[in-house]
Parts: sequence; C-alpha cells; structure tokens
Amino acid sequence: MCSRIGCLATALVLALSISLAAQTSPIATSPTTSQSSKSQIKKVPAPYTSPSSGKDMYIAYCASCHGQDGMGNGPAAPALKTRPTDLTLLAVKNDGKFPDSHIAEVIKGDKLTAAHGNKEMPVWGPVFLTLGHHDTAQVQMRIHNLTTYLESIQQK
Ligand code: HEC
Repeated sequence: MCSRIGCLATALVLALSISLAAQTSPIATSPTTSQSSKSQIKKVPAPYTSPSSGKDMYIAYCASCHGQDGMGNGPAAPALKTRPTDLTLLAVKNDGKFPDSHIAEVIKGDKLTAAHGNKEMPVWGPVFLTLGHHDTAQVQMRIHNLTTYLESIQQK
C-alpha cells in the first residue's frame, strides 16, 4: 500500500511526550485549544515493545494520554481537545460487559473515523504493521494482547 520509506514515516508519528512552552520543539503541534498554550504535544517515534506484553505496549503507547492507571489523566491529556477516555470504565459503561471486539477495532483504527469525529486518538494498526515488518499475525497479537490488558484493568 505504501512504500517502505512511507511506512517508516508513519511510524514516527505516535508515542507522545509533553514539552513545556519554554522548550522549543520544531515538530510540536500547537493545538488550537484556547487557554492551555502551556503544554504541547511532541511526537516521537514509537519504540519497539514485545507484542506479547499488553502491559508494556500500554505503558509505551497509551499511557501518555490515558494515564498509567488508564483513567484518562496522562501527561499529554491537557493538550488535547477531547479528554482521553477512562479506560477502566469501558465495561461499566457497557452494562458490565467488556466490549472486546469494539475495542480491538478502535485500537486498530477501523472504527475511528466512524465512531469519533476527530483524530486525537491515534490509529495504531499502521504503526504496529511497521513495527512488525508487515507481519499481520503480529499486529493481531498486539491488538489482542492490548485488548486483554484493558479488560484486566476494568473496574467492577
Ligand atoms: C494522543 C493521545 C492518545 C493516545 C496516545 C492514545 N489514545 Fe486512546 N483516546 C484518546 C482520546 C482523546 C480518546 C477519546 C476519543 C473520542 O472520544 O473521540 C481516546 C479513546 C480511546 C478508547 C475509547 C474508544 C471508545 O469507543 O470508547 C480506547 C479503547 C482507547 N482510546 C484505547 C487506546 C489504546 C489502547 C492506546 C494505546 C495503544 C491509546 N488509546 C492511545 C487519546 C489517545
């Protein structure tokens, strides 16, 4: 679908860290949020993690926005227009049943445009494809293990 170089470039997009306005960062996006010009999101290359550890992937790729504990208060959250979803309440908000196939599709990116009008939640399918050198079985494993990890942190 895309050239090797093109896909590598996509991989650069994702894991996020926060930088204060005092520091200059040429690639930081300047969100159009009104009051919080203090924080900016800096995009850094997605680091490699083991596809078998949902927790390691969560900490590396998701915690910057959703928080270490999943409750939506990661360091990058204040710079976003939409508050990251509290991922510990996914089951509670779905009548006590963890919506696993919906979540897997959201992570991969299939559901994103339809269900959410914005792109603040990154699309991980293409990043995982690049990390795994286009091994789709590995992408499936990453998404499955991330979903299982999220299931394990649900509040009862
Ligand atoms: C750049 C910040 C950011 C990162 C990084 C991020 N998310 Fe999100 N995520 C969001 C935001 C913002 C929303 C809320 C989107 C909305 O409501 O439109 C969201 C929503 C979600 C939802 C809820 C979808 C639904 O239908 O309710 C899930 C599940 C989710 N993220 C999982 C993840 C996982 C897993 C990762 C890591 C692989 C991740 N997110 C990384 C910002 C982020």
